[in-house]
Amino acid sequence: MKEAQKRIQELTEILNQANYEYYVLTNPTLTDQEFDKYMRELEKLEKENPEFASPNSPTKRVGGEVIDKFKKIKHRIPMLSLPDVFNEEEIIAFDERIRKSGFNPEYVCELKIDGLSGSFHYEEGELLTGATRGDGTIGEDITHNVKTIRSLPLHIKDNTDIEVRGEIYMGRETLAKLNHDRAEKNLPPFQNCRNAAAGSIRQLDSSIAAERKLDTWIYHLPNPEDYGIKTQFDSLEFMKELGFKVNPANRLVKDIKGILRFIEEYQEKRPYLPYDIDGVVIKVNDLEMQAKLGFTSKHPRWAVAYKFPAEEVLTKLTDIIFTVGRTGRITPNAVLEPVIVMGSTIKRATLHNEDYVIEKDLKIGDIVAIRKAGDVIPEVIGPKKERRTGEEVDFQMISHCPICDSLLEKKNGQVDHYCMNPNCPAKHIESLIHFCERKAMNIDGLGEKIIEDFFNLGFIKSIPDIYHLDIHSKELQELEGYGKKSIENLLNAIEESKKNSLEKLLFGLGIEGIGDKTAILLAKKYKTLETLAMQSEEDLKNIKDIGAILAKNIHAFFDNMDNIALMHKLKELGLNMKYLGPEEKHHDLISGKRFVVTGTISFMGRDEIESIIENYGGQASSSVSSKTNIVIVGEKAGSKETKAKELGIEIWDEAKWKSVYESLE
Ligand code: IVH
Repeated sequence: MKEAQKRIQELTEILNQANYEYYVLTNPTLTDQEFDKYMRELEKLEKENPEFASPNSPTKRVGGEVIDKFKKIKHRIPMLSLPDVFNEEEIIAFDERIRKSGFNPEYVCELKIDGLSGSFHYEEGELLTGATRGDGTIGEDITHNVKTIRSLPLHIKDNTDIEVRGEIYMGRETLAKLNHDRAEKNLPPFQNCRNAAAGSIRQLDSSIAAERKLDTWIYHLPNPEDYGIKTQFDSLEFMKELGFKVNPANRLVKDIKGILRFIEEYQEKRPYLPYDIDGVVIKVNDLEMQAKLGFTSKHPRWAVAYKFPAEEVLTKLTDIIFTVGRTGRITPNAVLEPVIVMGSTIKRATLHNEDYVIEKDLKIGDIVAIRKAGDVIPEVIGPKKERRTGEEVDFQMISHCPICDSLLEKKNGQVDHYCMNPNCPAKHIESLIHFCERKAMNIDGLGEKIIEDFFNLGFIKSIPDIYHLDIHSKELQELEGYGKKSIENLLNAIEESKKNSLEKLLFGLGIEGIGDKTAILLAKKYKTLETLAMQSEEDLKNIKDIGAILAKNIHAFFDNMDNIALMHKLKELGLNMKYLGPEEKHHDLISGKRFVVTGTISFMGRDEIESIIENYGGQASSSVSSKTNIVIVGEKAGSKETKAKELGIEIWDEAKWKSVYESLE
C-alpha cells in the first residue's frame, strides 16, 4: 500500500473515532486544534491523491455536495407511524388489548423525539443511503445531507450490512443560534426544532445542512432477526454497540406503573433537555410478541406514542395592540409580560379578532394562561378571573386604522375588521414583505426590516419598484449598514426572482385566500397568469378545492384595472408568468379519467393519490356520479363504494392501485 493511502486510512480512523467520542459519547479525547490539524492533513492528502479519497471520508462532514433534485427511495420495509394516546386510560387500554391477546408484556419506554424520522442503510459497514420517511413506502434520498450529521457513523464496526432508523433532530441551542443568525439576515425564524430540522435536511446543497448541525437518536432496527436479536431493548443496545447514538433515557419497564413513572419523570425533565420531545413512545419489548401482534393498515399494534399535554403557564396581559395586515385586516395582539414556555420566551400572542377577545372575556391587566399550541404559536387560553383585582381595563375594539386613521369596516358576515384605505402604508409594507417572502418570490436580502427601511426612504413604494431598485444602486451602497457587496447580492437576487415559476408570483401577489398550495394548483391548471386572469367566477368555482369565496376573490382581483396594470408592468419588467413545474405525464389507465378515492389506502394518503392522478392527467373528485370512471377503494370505505357498485363503476382495491402506482414512471 502506498504511503499516502495508508496515512489517509489512519487519519480517517482517528477522525471517525474522534467524531464518535465527541458527538455520540460527548466525551472528547482530542482537542479542537488536534482535530483540525488531522482534518487539514487529510484534506490535503485527499486533494493530492483523489484516487484514495473515500466517498465516506470524514472530510465530507462539512458538506459541499449539491444535488439538483431529490431521488426517491423505496423502503424495503414500510416506515410506519404510531397511534397517539393522550392519557392514562388510553395507555391502560393499549396494555389490556395486548393482554387480551394472551400476552404478558414488558415494555420499553423511549422519549418521543420531535424531529423527523430517517432510515439509514449501511453496506459492508459503509453508510450508503439516508432517506426520509416520505409517505411510509417511498421516501426521499437525503444521503448527501445525512453524511454531514456528525453523530451518525459514516462507517460501522464489523463491516455489517444493516438498516437502522431513528430521528433526525436539531438541538435547542443550535436552533437558538440559527434563528439569531437568521434575524440578522432578515430571514424569518424557524418556529421550532422540528421545522428547522425538516427544512435543513431538505436542502439540495449539503453545506447548508452541515452548517445546521443536525443530530440523531437511533431507535429502530427493522431486521432484528438478521442479528439474532430478540427484544427491542437488546436492539437498542446492539445499535449502541455499533456506534449509533442511542438515547440513554430508554428504559425497560415491567408494567403500566413503570410506564406511568417514566412519563411523569420525563414530563418534569422535559423543559431542561437540550432537545425537544413531544411525548413518550411505548413499545412491547419482546420481538416475537411484536410479530404476533402485527400491524393495522397504518400502525404497528405493539407500540403507541403518548403525547404530552401542551404546557400552560400564567403571565400578565399588559396590553392589547393592533396590527394591519396586507389585506388591511386588523389583528389584536396580546402584549404579555415575558414568560418562558417550553424553553422559549413568549412576549406576544395573536388574539385573532374582536370576537375572539370578547369570547375569552379578556381584560388588560388580567393574569392569563398561555400555552404553545402544537408547540409553534403561543395561544392565550383565557383569563384567571379569580385573580382579578378590579384594576383591569375592559377591551375596546378600535374604530380607526392604527396606521392611517381611516374608518375600519367589517366585510359581509365576517368577524374581521378591515382598513379599507387602498393607500394605507401598513398594507403596502405588508404586501411588499409578502411578495418577497420565501414561499413567494423568495428574494434573499429583502426581509421585513429592509423593506420597511426602503419603503420609508422612498426606494420601494410598490412591487414594480423592487425591479427598479438597480437605478438607486449608488445611493443604496452609501446607506449605513449596506456595503457594495450586499447591494450587489440583493440586486442579483431580485434579478434571479424574475425567473420564478408562476405559482410563486401568484402567491406573492397576495390575492386574498390564495395560499402557496392553491397557487400551485392554479398554476398547474392554467399554466399562465393571462389564462388564469381570463377565467370566469363560475369556471374557478368548479375546480376542486376552490370554494365560492375564493373564486369570487380571484375573479375580483383580475377584474380590477389596477391589478391588470400591475401584471402588465411586471411582464414588461421581464418577470416570468408561466408555470415551469413538471409537465403533465401520461398513463393509459389514469389520463383523461375521472376518479374518486375513498377509504384508507395503507401506504399512501388520499391527498397524495389524488395529486398523482392529477399529475397524470386524470381528474379526482369527491363524489361518485355516472361520470366517474374509477373508484379507488381502501379500508373502511362506506357509501361511495356502495354507490359505485350500484352504478357499475370500475373499482380498484388497494392492490390494484399499488400495481398501477408501481408501474408509473
Ligand atoms: S418508533 C414502527 N421511536 O414518532 C416504529 N418513533 O408516529 C415507528 N419518533 O414517525 C417509530 N421518537 O418519527 C419511534 N423513540 C421513538 C421515536 C419515534 C420519535 C417519531 C417517529 C415516528 C413518530 C411516531
